[in-house]
Amino acid sequence: MAEAIDPIKWFRRASPYIYLHRQKTFVLCVDQAAMRSPNFDNVLRDVTLLHALGVRIVLVHDLEASELAEEQIGHPPPIASEGQLSELMAKIGGATHQVIASLSANAHHASPFYSDLVACTGNFIRAQPLGVMGGQDQGFRGKPRKVNKSAIAALLDDDMLVVIPPVGYALTGETFILNCHSLAGEVAKALQADKLIYFLPSHGLVDDAGHRISERSTTQLEGDNDALASGIKQGIKSALTGQSNRCHLVSYAHDGALLEELFTMTGSGTIVTPGPAVIRSATAEDVEAMLKLIRPLEQSGALIERSRDDLDQNLADYLVVDLEGQLIGCGALHEFGDTAEIASLATDPNHRDQDYGERLLSSLLHRAMQRGVKAVFVLTTQTEHWFLERGFMRAEKDHLPAPKLAKYNSQRNSKVLIRPL
Ligand SMILES: CC(C)(COP(=O)(O)OP(=O)(O)OC[C@H]1O[C@@H](n2cnc3c(N)ncnc32)[C@H](O)[C@@H]1OP(=O)(O)O)[C@@H](O)C(=O)NCCC(=O)NCCS
Repeated sequence: MAEAIDPIKWFRRASPYIYLHRQKTFVLCVDQAAMRSPNFDNVLRDVTLLHALGVRIVLVHDLEASELAEEQIGHPPPIASEGQLSELMAKIGGATHQVIASLSANAHHASPFYSDLVACTGNFIRAQPLGVMGGQDQGFRGKPRKVNKSAIAALLDDDMLVVIPPVGYALTGETFILNCHSLAGEVAKALQADKLIYFLPSHGLVDDAGHRISERSTTQLEGDNDALASGIKQGIKSALTGQSNRCHLVSYAHDGALLEELFTMTGSGTIVTPGPAVIRSATAEDVEAMLKLIRPLEQSGALIERSRDDLDQNLADYLVVDLEGQLIGCGALHEFGDTAEIASLATDPNHRDQDYGERLLSSLLHRAMQRGVKAVFVLTTQTEHWFLERGFMRAEKDHLPAPKLAKYNSQRNSKVLIRPL
């Protein structure tokens, strides 16, 4: 995390996110792989920090860390006997207490003034049996039927951190073991949580070249075979069909990944956004629609004029927002050595205020970081505050790279804003 070099700057840049996340409800899901990680204690430490910053936290955990072999995690065997069930319940109880103990210790270590964090658990989940699947009775494996959202909300209102084990209770008196991934999605949906966060071994999803994918839409995710456990896909679907705005896939293995994801604009993992809009590189087929989008903004003076030739020649610099084949946004990253310009950032007026501008900017910043760019700048006439609110700072035009300064149009008098990466 480059920003850690200057903690004061980092703290100032993080402050909008502290404000943004305060009093928001986040559901976090730690599965066996995450609980087994040597970094798990750091993850829990960051969870207590989030709680201290006023985030309402629900932590859904898995069975005891060593319970299932890797290949069984997606396809756990049926739980046939009451004896097996009691054994598992004892282990889950142990895991819950271990999580609560770690949260308590971390709260105290974070600050001696903050040792009163109360983490609590309860019978929040009503469950039903999975039943017979593929001809095999799944026994005491179940699925959530109802989440007692008012009980959880009351505890969150009381500043408690709610820990939910993968267990549900049926009205018949039976107990069922649940898949923690899909349970977390159901909890997020019931609570209308602002975020649902899953932990993966990598920094979110990665492409074929091994690069992090910073954003994925639910539609794209559907086509990502084998990229994620089916329970996670199911959980994301549940959460996003509820009121949740965002699902995040964050590394459990890298110290600080959760904080970097939540408190920096470029994040550290993958954000899964609802709906079919996709941010992708521009192609020659997009040029006509891009011109249609930016021409009126050039005429109003918001954007500097660019010819079709200029677009064609620099097409590789552009990203577009594609909403089911309709182009509703675009933006470019033009590189000048180790700095780069964010340019032609525009969204369709009929689709404004839906975060597309922010998502485009964040993708352009992510691209800049991947290419080793140290700072980005923007020249703007009418959007100064939009960029200032997103971590840019005012600068003199002399800070522009020489070829850009040579072309600076004094009559246009654009403001120069810079954002170190
Ligand atoms: C700037 C722009 C890209 C934002 O697009 P968007 O899709 O609406 O962006 P978001 O949804 O992420 O952001 C919306 C927020 O920005 C605010 N906003 C929009 N335009 C703004 C401006 N000119 N100045 C300050 N804030 C602005 C909205 O009020 C909204 O605020 P809220 O979240 O508090 O309600 C879009 O307004 C646009 O295309 N502007 C014209 C082109 C331009 O000036 N580009 C920049 C030069 S490179």
